[in-house]
Amino acid sequence: MILNKIIKILLIEDEEYDVKRVRRTLEPFKDRLVIKKVESDGQSALEYLAENKNLIDVVIMDFQIVGGITGESLIKAMKEIDSLLQIIVITKMTVNVTDYDFANALLEAGAMWYCTKYPGDIEDFIYQPTDFILSIMNAYHKKHILIKEKRSTAKLKSNVQEILENNRIIGESQSITKLKNQIEKAAAQEATVLVTGESGTGKELVARHIHYLSNRRYEKYVTINSGSLPHELIESELFGFEKGSFTGANYSKVGLFELANRGTIFLDEIAELPLSAQVKLLRVLQEGEIDKIGRTEKLNVDVRIIAATNKVLQEEIKERRFREDLFYRLNVVTIYVPPMRERTEDVPMLVEHFLEKFCREMSLAAPQIKDEAVLYMQKQPWPGNVRQLQNVLRRLLFLGVNVITRQDVEQALGGAQQTSSKNGNSFEWNRHEILPWRDMEKKIKSEYFNFVRENCSSDSEAARILGLAPPNYYRMCKELGLK
Ligand SMILES: Nc1ncnc2c1ncn2[C@@H]1O[C@H](COP(=O)(O)OP(=O)(O)OP(=O)(O)O)[C@@H](O)[C@H]1O
Ligand SMILES: [Mg+2]
Repeated sequence: MILNKIIKILLIEDEEYDVKRVRRTLEPFKDRLVIKKVESDGQSALEYLAENKNLIDVVIMDFQIVGGITGESLIKAMKEIDSLLQIIVITKMTVNVTDYDFANALLEAGAMWYCTKYPGDIEDFIYQPTDFILSIMNAYHKKHILIKEKRSTAKLKSNVQEILENNRIIGESQSITKLKNQIEKAAAQEATVLVTGESGTGKELVARHIHYLSNRRYEKYVTINSGSLPHELIESELFGFEKGSFTGANYSKVGLFELANRGTIFLDEIAELPLSAQVKLLRVLQEGEIDKIGRTEKLNVDVRIIAATNKVLQEEIKERRFREDLFYRLNVVTIYVPPMRERTEDVPMLVEHFLEKFCREMSLAAPQIKDEAVLYMQKQPWPGNVRQLQNVLRRLLFLGVNVITRQDVEQALGGAQQTSSKNGNSFEWNRHEILPWRDMEKKIKSEYFNFVRENCSSDSEAARILGLAPPNYYRMCKELGLK
């Protein structure tokens, strides 16, 4: 309730008679509308504000005062000291009340409201009291809305900062530097982006960076993996449906494109998108319209699309699995993420980063790693790229050694490439650490899922090889903490 608050006022007025008139006008509310200070010139007012930061809520200033700094320049200078200050200007009757240029100049300088003083023979009031008092209250209210707004923008900003910080792109090689530049350029535009590159190179990471560095960063970032859903569900997932549009549609469903309105949608594994959904996607790209099932009126959306694939789309086009027109629409800006074997100088940094991260997550003391071990890692082909490196490092931490040697790395890599170590499993079973079956089952499953995923080019392929329906595969990956 604004009326309960104490509003602190600075009055800038050089005529004693008008100071009295302002006081009288505020008289009925003098407990809540408190004139903290009266200054008769601009310079002293500025000094007072600078010395009493954040004390004053509302300034009431006469436009025609004597002395150096007055009018618009005084308003601007006060706003510079405290951008949240609300300024009410009172002017002499001589100012034409319908002079809009004058009013406009005041507002542009940063005033919140202005009024022309009553003629001098009205001793009791400076202006119509209820209007004057209400304007002061409105000014105070505006200040508080601005404070709230500032707080929530600061919160959003720090959330975005946090996301970027937690998803840093590690590496200083030439190709990573080039990649970072490409990301920045893409973020500054609105164009559709196609991210390509082998499995595990960081395509998803790139897409996330583009969104969180773009003007859309405070809006939604929605991701969908085209390989994760059965074909018959994908269209309703992407575009939604209206209630009653088909048997069983007992409710209407908001599609992901509608959900991502004003934001970005990341379409991962785009090559897996069925042809019928490709047609609908093309329409979104061409018209900005979505084909919501069962809806007759147009539904416009403003969504930026980032797509990713580890397939060569030109090949898919040849095989008639991917529409050529869609390819050209998606391929406006292309970002290629190079495989890890082409940027081996980044391996030490990546190793250090992930070891530190995983140890923090698992509350472990970080082991030392021998140079020969890192060197050995730099020489590996890494078909599963950064994801494979992460898994090897997790496996190494699992060994629980204080110093990681080249042999340890060989063994951990072998775990990935030949499934098993000497005991037929990649865990060192230890009789002092016998786990309940439920925990061991989870470990074995996640080890095996990781191994299969590293040896497949995509999640869809991994699901296929494991004989799992894609949604089940995704659910299991989530349960195992792999997604
Ligand atoms: N340069 C990098 N710095 C830090 N982490 C990285 C880097 N590149 C990839 N990663 C991490 O590696 C993992 C795999 O990356 P990501 O999921 O983005 O790969 P992808 O190219 O989308 O793979 P896929 O084609 O298999 O979907 C993620 O955990 C990601 O955060
Ligand atoms: Mg991915």
